[in-house]
Amino acid sequence: MQNTPHIPVLYREVIEAFQDVESGIIIDCTMGYGGHSSMILEANPNIKLIAIDQDQTAIDFSTERLSKYGDRVSIRKGRFSNVIKEILEEYGADEIKGLLADIGVSSLQLDQKDRGFSYESENLDMRMDKGASLTAEVVVNEYSTSELENILLEYGELRNYKKIASTIVKNRPFTSAKSLSDTLKNDMPRGKKIHPATLLMQAIRIEVNDELGELKSLLNSLQNAGLSSAKIAIISFHSLEDRIVKQEFIKWSKSCICPSEAFRCECGNNHSLGKIVTRKPLMAKDDELKENIRSRSAKMRIFQMDN
Ligand SMILES: C[S@@+](CC[C@H](N)C(=O)[O-])C[C@H]1O[C@@H](n2cnc3c(N)ncnc32)[C@H](O)[C@@H]1O
Repeated sequence: MQNTPHIPVLYREVIEAFQDVESGIIIDCTMGYGGHSSMILEANPNIKLIAIDQDQTAIDFSTERLSKYGDRVSIRKGRFSNVIKEILEEYGADEIKGLLADIGVSSLQLDQKDRGFSYESENLDMRMDKGASLTAEVVVNEYSTSELENILLEYGELRNYKKIASTIVKNRPFTSAKSLSDTLKNDMPRGKKIHPATLLMQAIRIEVNDELGELKSLLNSLQNAGLSSAKIAIISFHSLEDRIVKQEFIKWSKSCICPSEAFRCECGNNHSLGKIVTRKPLMAKDDELKENIRSRSAKMRIFQMDN
C-alpha cells in the first residue's frame, strides 16, 4: 500500500462495511488510485466492481492497477452524479449491493504541483477533470466580492472571509496559487496545525469541482433508485458534507414523511428506505492516524437500503 500515491482512509472500516456482500455489484464512486477498489475486490471475491473517477490520471493509474481482476472490474470516466444514473439504467436497482464514495481530492492530486491544488502551485487550476470549464483562476479573478465571501465562509469556514475576499479583489489578477497564498498570508488564521492557506485552497477547490452539488445529486439519485438491498458508505472530509450525509440518511430512515405539524399520519407510514448503520460517524483510530495524517478529518457514515 505504501508504494501507491494515495493511502486509502478508513480502509479496515470500508472492508468491514461490505463484508457481508456476497455477490452482485459494488460501485466505487471515487476510484482514485484504486486503493479501496482493490481491497473490496480482494475481500469480496464474488462481486463485480464498477469504479468511477473524473480524473484521467487516476483512470490511467487504476486501469493498470486493477487489470489483474479482469472482467470483474468496469471503469467509467465522468462525474459520479452523471455516471451513477447510467449504471442504474444499465444494471437495474436489484443488482447493486454496495456503494462507496470517498469524497474529495487524492494525495496525488494535492502533491502534483501542476494541478494547482496546493498553495505552493505555480498555477491556479484545481480541476479534477482537466476538461471541465471552471478553473480556480476564473473563481479567483472573475467572481464578485460577495461570491468570493460566500465561498470563503461556507466552504472554507474562514471567520475573516470579508477581509480575505477584499484582499483578493484588490490584488488580482492572480496566476498562481503560490502568489495568492503569499499575498494573503497575513489575513489567514494562525495557530492551527494546518498551513494557513489550506482552508482557502479547500474553499476554492470545492467551488471549482461543485463538490457539494455532486454529493447532493448522488444522494438524490440513490434515494430515488429503488435499491432493494444495498449498503451505502460515504466518507467525507468537511463538516458541511458530513452534515448533508447525516441529514439525508435520517430522512431515508423515516417511515412517516408527513409534515411535522400534521395532526395525524396520512402518508401511509411506509416510506423508510432502510436503516442507519452508523449512528455516529466512523473515524480513524490512533494507529491509522499515525500512518496517514490525511485520515484525521475523515468521517464515514453507512446506510443499509432495505426496500
Ligand atoms: C479521495 S480520492 C479517492 C481515493 C480512493 N478511494 C483510493 O483508495 O485510492 C477521490 C477521488 O475521487 C475523484 N472524484 C471526486 N469527486 C468526484 C466526482 N464528483 N465524480 C467523479 N470522481 C470524483 C477524484 O478525482 C479523486 O481521484
